[in-house]
Amino acid sequence: MANALIVLAAGRGTRMQSDMPKVLHEIAGAPLLIHALESARGLEAAHTVVVTGHGAEAVEAAALAHDETVICVRQQEQRGTGHAVQQAAEALADHDGPAFVLYGDTPFVTAETLAKMAEALEGASVAVLGFEAEDPGKYGRLVTEGDRLLKIVEWKDASEEERAITLCNSGVLAADSGLLFDLLAEVTDDNAAGEFYLTDVPGLVNERGLVTQVVRCDEAETLGVNSRADLARASAFFQTRARTQAMETGAQLEAPETVYFAHDTVLGRDCTVEPNVVFGPGVTVETGARIRAFSHLEGCHVSRGAIVGPYARLRPGAELSEDVRVGNFVEIKAAEIGEGAKVNHLSYVGDAAIGAGTNVGAGTITCNYDGANKFRTEIGDNVFVGSDTQLVAPVRVGAGATIAAGTTVWKDVADGMLVLNDKTQTARAGYVRPVKKKS
Ligand code: UD1
Ligand code: MG
Repeated sequence: MANALIVLAAGRGTRMQSDMPKVLHEIAGAPLLIHALESARGLEAAHTVVVTGHGAEAVEAAALAHDETVICVRQQEQRGTGHAVQQAAEALADHDGPAFVLYGDTPFVTAETLAKMAEALEGASVAVLGFEAEDPGKYGRLVTEGDRLLKIVEWKDASEEERAITLCNSGVLAADSGLLFDLLAEVTDDNAAGEFYLTDVPGLVNERGLVTQVVRCDEAETLGVNSRADLARASAFFQTRARTQAMETGAQLEAPETVYFAHDTVLGRDCTVEPNVVFGPGVTVETGARIRAFSHLEGCHVSRGAIVGPYARLRPGAELSEDVRVGNFVEIKAAEIGEGAKVNHLSYVGDAAIGAGTNVGAGTITCNYDGANKFRTEIGDNVFVGSDTQLVAPVRVGAGATIAAGTTVWKDVADGMLVLNDKTQTARAGYVRPVKKKS
């Protein structure tokens, strides 16, 4: 049976002290909300509903930019988690199958855990994700009999005895969609917070003689973000997990704790990442490539056997073919670098195509911007670009051409030509260097 997913993202997130809705704060280059949506990818939800409220327009735009099939519904007033889920009732009226409720500010629930919950639903009407809390604080407490959940008690409403329970509610809940909305219609706001609690559902299930099962997970998976400090902690957790995963799939990190990943970084087998490398979103590094120390990569593709850095910057649209060399203090943007080509020192290559086997000398600049518009530079195969060359785009250099050091190229160069700017070198004898005055 197909699954549905409901992600709650209406809360204000007051403790973030931010003008931006909480779920749009980012970890590893993606908003919390997107991490939450991605964590549930394994459910292959037929319908995904995001419940928005505070900053609804911005939250909806982010959700739809990520996945245009998401249905956004607004919760005009934040009257509790149960009330929030109810807002999805209409959108899921025709859905026949389980519905999973996740929080938009809880990014790390794993696919395995959600699979366990789906499995639990085969023998129970409702499944709730719980965890043993190191510090149970103000979490809802799970009152259980074995794996059977009798009810959830919110901290505000709990007795001393109930507060002593350490098995806590993560907030993730799954139930048959029809049953869930049926039960929610019975929930009242007669409690300490004056809210409609989603957590009243298991108690109602029990009253009907049905079963709610607890599925347990590691506390780290339930890590929610409520403050700036939580966000920093969550980022650190993400990085630790990403580093481990990269090594598990065969990438070598020389100093893992100094490498920063984006949410979507892909590293092939046997590639090596030296210390202090930062990956922005959209990077793929293929098998056997080497990213040397202090490099920054974003929106780029590095093919097999390429070597990047140290101190290189690859910006969006940098496309490096096999065995390319990009060396220190080189910036590449929106440029394809052909197989085996070298750009080894102190260069800017933007809006360009560089042919296979071409050597770009130190201090070469593609002058791609005239102050208003951008233009392309095209360099053929096996070209030798001398040091300190400026290529004033739009301009083309044919295959096999040679550009002398210190040339400003502003006209196209035909295949095989040598180009240079006429400059004279004058020598004068008898010059005396100035000497520093004594006070
Ligand atoms: C909730 C649970 C608690 C659990 C804890 C785990 C309830 C009543 N309590 O408490 O048992 O231990 O999470 O973190 O469910 N939201 C809306 N609309 C609302 C209210 C909330 O969209 O009207 C969203 C929030 O944006 C947030 C999530 O639901 O993403 C949880 O809300 P929050 O107010 O943080 O619930 P807690 O009090 O932490
Ligand atoms: Mg909370």
